[in-house]
Amino acid sequence: MRVLESAALPEGATAVVRVDGRDVALARVEGRVYALDNTCPHRGGSLGNGDLQGHHLYCPQHAWCFDVRTGEAFFPAGSRVACFDVKEEDGAIFVVSRGRDGAVPGALPQGG
Ligand code: FES
Repeated sequence: MRVLESAALPEGATAVVRVDGRDVALARVEGRVYALDNTCPHRGGSLGNGDLQGHHLYCPQHAWCFDVRTGEAFFPAGSRVACFDVKEEDGAIFVVSRGRDGAVPGALPQGG
């Protein structure tokens, strides 16, 4: 599903896009785009509006920190969010597959 123009997500930027009724956070690190469930499993903060430092994405609410490559939390350990495969083609970003935990864009959040 086409979600955003590539130019709208420069290096080091994040964004929130809507995929089949579900908010998905995008982040570009070292040229590559990553897609995660936007909803923080702590109290629902918007991860796509968080602070991206390298591959670390900090929730804007209470600074839980997730690895954009895997959805795994650096802090607190053991927490995670679903992540989705993405591709870029013809100047646009596409969310192309279900999350690695089986979550499908549009499904209910999976929780922590
Ligand atoms: S809502 Fe994300 S850290 Fe609290």
